[in-house]
Amino acid sequence: MALREILVVPDPVLKQVSQPVDKVDDELRALMDDMLETMYDAPGIGLAAIQVGVAKRVIVMDLAGPDEDKAPRYFVNPEILWASEETQPYEEGCLSVPDIFDEVERPTQVKLKYLNYRGEEVIEDAEGLFAVCIQHEMDHLEGVLFIDYLSRLKRDRAVAKVKKQARAA
Ligand code: NI
Repeated sequence: MALREILVVPDPVLKQVSQPVDKVDDELRALMDDMLETMYDAPGIGLAAIQVGVAKRVIVMDLAGPDEDKAPRYFVNPEILWASEETQPYEEGCLSVPDIFDEVERPTQVKLKYLNYRGEEVIEDAEGLFAVCIQHEMDHLEGVLFIDYLSRLKRDRAVAKVKKQARAA
């Protein structure tokens, strides 16, 4: 496993639409292993492949609390089959927009279909933090960031702040 560099705004790669994966093979699993290690190192709770510069429809996630055992999850070619009409705001952050947090309103529950680490098809209901996180990560596959839901002013400010931090680093 190896750490990968996490791209941050305004890197144009983050705006790319990711392509479906043909096959869950050892090469893809190696990418997922690297992504998970990179996410834990950051640290974060979710990461899409495009955030490490790979335009494939792959997401890793771990929603375990700090005192819980690790619970890595892998989503290949995820699709939302159903989303609740009910929505709920949640204060989101993103490893590609470091140190910026703001509320985004999303459906409270979704039903998902995806391939897991072994390439098996899974259909699963998500709610709570899981629902927030999978919708946030799936937006990355379309080149959408959570700051894209904010006002133009807030978005511009967020990008300017990240740029300034990058210069200072
Ligand atoms: Ni993100």
